[in-house]
Amino acid sequence: MTPGPLHLIGLSGSLRSGSYNTALLRTAQALAPAGADLIAGSIRDIPLYDADLERDAGLPAAVSHLKAMIAGADGLMLFTPEYNNGIPGVFKNAIDWLSRPAADIPKVFGGRPVAVLGASAGGFGTIMSQAAWLPVLRTLGADHWAGERLMVARAGSVIDEGGGLTDEAIRRRLAAFVAGFADHCRAVRDCRRPNP
Ligand code: FNR
Repeated sequence: MTPGPLHLIGLSGSLRSGSYNTALLRTAQALAPAGADLIAGSIRDIPLYDADLERDAGLPAAVSHLKAMIAGADGLMLFTPEYNNGIPGVFKNAIDWLSRPAADIPKVFGGRPVAVLGASAGGFGTIMSQAAWLPVLRTLGADHWAGERLMVARAGSVIDEGGGLTDEAIRRRLAAFVAGFADHCRAVRDCRRPNP
């Protein structure tokens, strides 16, 4: 039986309408190779993590929805901004919710291919926040893919007001990044598929 298309989930860690990271995600969707669907998930409706809320009301619907999307995906792409040389709180908060209850971590993140890339206004293009994701992904038991790196620096000069990525060299690197990650996810999927 021929396996279906590869399902990848992309999350932008920014809520702002003109987000460079959301723009990068949209461009990555357009550049995804044949046979791979990159679907955008959303962290917008995820509240601040509160253990009392979790105990009394369970997981918010937005969290359960995203958990199911990731658990059913072949790979996850994190488009991370950088705040004060670290992971923006809204993004880390979303991943923290997605790690609840802890018993579900293996189902959602365990061995799941995860790629991290990002865009920032500064000159180092999220290098620090990308590094800050590594211990988080290790803790969750995810399969961090390190086949390519993409840090889009001075994003305001290469992403226009409509969210278009205007720099041809970065577009090529983004296309290679998504293709390389898709190849990895396909290899992992094929290796885990039961023999017919
Ligand atoms: C920033 N920004 C920023 N940029 C960077 O390259 N390194 C940094 O450490 C920071 N720190 C930082 C802190 C805070 C609180 C804010 C609000 C911003 C700038 C950041 O890259 C810029 O706001 C981007 O536009 C954020 O990504 P989105 O929202 O465009 O995806």
